[in-house]
Amino acid sequence: MSHPIPVILDCDPGHDDALAITLALARPELNVLGITTVGGNAGLENTTRNALRILALLNRPDVPVAAGIDDPLLRPLETAPEVHGKSGLDGADLPEPISEARPEGAIAFLAATLAASPEPVTLIPTGPLTNIGLLLLAHPELKPKIARICLMGGAMGAGNWTPSAEFNIWVDPEAARIVFRSGLPITMCGLDITHKALMGLPEVDRLRALGTRPGDVFADLLFFFTRFHLERYGTADTPIHDAVAVAAVALPHLVGTRPHHVDVEVNGELTRGMTVVDHRGQPGKTPNVDVALDIDRAAFAELVIEAVASFR
Ligand code: RIB
Ligand code: CA
Repeated sequence: MSHPIPVILDCDPGHDDALAITLALARPELNVLGITTVGGNAGLENTTRNALRILALLNRPDVPVAAGIDDPLLRPLETAPEVHGKSGLDGADLPEPISEARPEGAIAFLAATLAASPEPVTLIPTGPLTNIGLLLLAHPELKPKIARICLMGGAMGAGNWTPSAEFNIWVDPEAARIVFRSGLPITMCGLDITHKALMGLPEVDRLRALGTRPGDVFADLLFFFTRFHLERYGTADTPIHDAVAVAAVALPHLVGTRPHHVDVEVNGELTRGMTVVDHRGQPGKTPNVDVALDIDRAAFAELVIEAVASFR
């Protein structure tokens, strides 16, 4: 295997963000340089604390964490307590943090880490794109140090927060537009693929059967996460959205993609936060994004359970 890919996760833990962090730290193909946090599923204080608690659970206090921006660039923050609970990571007995967030904050941490890296770094955002949009605005000179942005967000089809918008893009459409128009290589792991990356009650049982603290905690977290989906969609089969973006970097052969031109609507009364995907190769719409569309559900679930099982 070639040497591990340097990555930075930018997230809003969040139940699926927690599994994304676990998968990233478990995969030998990846070298996690750090985790930055953003307001999204919950406010920044909670998402940062949740990231630190997951690292305590995995006994990885060595992984740097830097808190980013609480509010979107131009709009008030909208959170998702009905999905992730008041804390942003309800439903399990998580340990207290055993490390602290870096004093310099996410943008400075991202800039310093990119500048210091001997090779371009892959960014894996799994929350609203506020931090990444700001990084690109503040440090355009660092674009050559970004190998790819493999993000969870958007959709070719229907949204999940509004009929036209997926939550991460909805929360900060202006930041998302900066990212999609950056000219950087982008992979969009939107709802089209994440709704094929399902885990449900059988996987809760398999996690519990691991007989480890991480196994028990993620069994409880997944069970909590399935509750919203059961109430909203009538099935406990739950998309583990964010872990797909990690899998797409670590094991790209698992993810089918197709190039499309994608831009972000920021003004629409009904379409704010929509990822507008050119389906037909319209003239003048050169593809700028690899849109992830396919993944094998069983292989994905195995990957995630194997990752949790690798921590004792
Ligand atoms: O729409 C799903 C996305 O919104 C996921 O990243 C989830 O964690 C929330 O942030
Ligand atoms: Ca997320």
